[in-house]
Amino acid sequence: MTQVIDHARIRNRERDITGMLVWSGDAILQVLEGDIDAISALFARIEKDTRHRDVVLLAAVKADRGRFWRWPMGFARIGPEHGDLLVRSGGSDQLAPLQMNIEGALDLLEELAKAQPEDPDAGVGRPL
Ligand SMILES: Cc1cc2nc3c(=O)[nH]c(=O)nc-3n(C[C@H](O)[C@H](O)[C@H](O)COP(=O)(O)O)c2cc1C
Repeated sequence: MTQVIDHARIRNRERDITGMLVWSGDAILQVLEGDIDAISALFARIEKDTRHRDVVLLAAVKADRGRFWRWPMGFARIGPEHGDLLVRSGGSDQLAPLQMNIEGALDLLEELAKAQPEDPDAGVGRPL
């Protein structure tokens, strides 16, 4: 997963894409923000990536303002210590993306992103 994230950070900076990914070992929840064409192209590549399976698009929304513009791709490994946060985000104490509502999922991602190193140059120039 570290390789995926390192590569994503480099590529996303080039394409003005930002976001956050959390991984429990079993499940992944990721948000991507940026230009709609760039995101569509990236999602098509991610869908075909054989390093994971059962990719589901939970939501695609036009946002007035990005929530993740400071992170070229934040990353957090979900563990037992996140049980309370997962429950507060509207899910069970395990990461179960298909059972979360979108607001809960975004709140969880943002909460965990805040503990990540920020890149002051990420997302610069992107219309919000
Ligand atoms: C869970 C997961 C998340 C990924 N997220 C990104 C991402 O945010 N940005 C990215 O460029 N590639 C991401 N990738 C990698 C892409 O699937 C793909 O390998 C990459 O876009 C290849 O294109 P490139 O070599 O031109 O960068 C992700 C892969 C996986 C498995």
